[in-house]
Amino acid sequence: MFPAAGLGTRFLPATKAQPKEMLPLVDKPIIQYGIEEAAAAGIEDIVIVTGRGKNAIEDHFDVSVELETFLEARGKQDQAAEIRSISRSLAYVRQGEPLGLGHAVLTARPLVGDNAFAVILADDVIDATPGALAQMIEVFNEVDGPVLLVERVPREQISGYGVIAYEPVREGVYRVTDLVEKPKPEDAPSELAIIGRYVLTPDIFDALVEEAAAVRSGKVQGEIQLTNGLRRLLARRNVYACEIEGVRHDTGNKLGFLKAVVYFALKRPDLAGPLRAYLEAVVGGKEGPR
Ligand code: UTP
Repeated sequence: MFPAAGLGTRFLPATKAQPKEMLPLVDKPIIQYGIEEAAAAGIEDIVIVTGRGKNAIEDHFDVSVELETFLEARGKQDQAAEIRSISRSLAYVRQGEPLGLGHAVLTARPLVGDNAFAVILADDVIDATPGALAQMIEVFNEVDGPVLLVERVPREQISGYGVIAYEPVREGVYRVTDLVEKPKPEDAPSELAIIGRYVLTPDIFDALVEEAAAVRSGKVQGEIQLTNGLRRLLARRNVYACEIEGVRHDTGNKLGFLKAVVYFALKRPDLAGPLRAYLEAVVGGKEGPR
């Protein structure tokens, strides 16, 4: 499940008429990295939670017979094959109003049914081998319970995240004992922050229904948060977290996005050399080579 119905306010004005998930890292939209990660983890059924102004996502993953025929007619078989490989059959569900990530997850409930499922926040682009989700599913099969992905974050940045309190299970795997949303650095129970991947069990939905009711009645202020739903779940069953090997970029903010573009461009043999030379020249205060 890819919740993609947020408004992307941190990236305005670029996201006024264009979903942030469609901003390209080099030549691939952000969400395509996530979809490829899910496919590599063996996930076949994908649902994207969309909202207003997100049609470009559907168009991107649609078949483009015209474009394929055009490329083939010009002998560009490789490009045609690449374009064909992007299109896949995905399901879309609309979140009428952006009432929070927990609400977005709840919106896709009818398509998930009584199955375990993964939530990918496409903004968090993770370069890992094997992919982040594949590593998490391995942990999920081992612990037999929901698994959150966590990353060690410096204390001064921790208030931007949900943070776990934990007991260690083994290296890189933890049993979550509490979850705190956006704590002050001095109140954070650890330096392990929840990042954009979750492997969940279907009982999260009932926890989210309760959370939605609490928000509606005014007992809980603000959005219907997934973290709060997870907190409710924690009272009923074991929830786990894992740290994985990999490099994460938060492409939902401008600096994180720029870093990700440079990171992925420097991994491309066709771009790395000239880009490095250009960056060195710019950083050195010289005009960049043309
Ligand atoms: P963010 O916290 O990044 O919010 O949402 P946002 O609206 O996308 O972006 P900013 O903060 O305004 O710049 C985390 C994830 O949850 C989804 C977003 O699309 C993103 O993948 N989301 C959030 C929804 O699908 N629906 C919501 O109501 C809220």
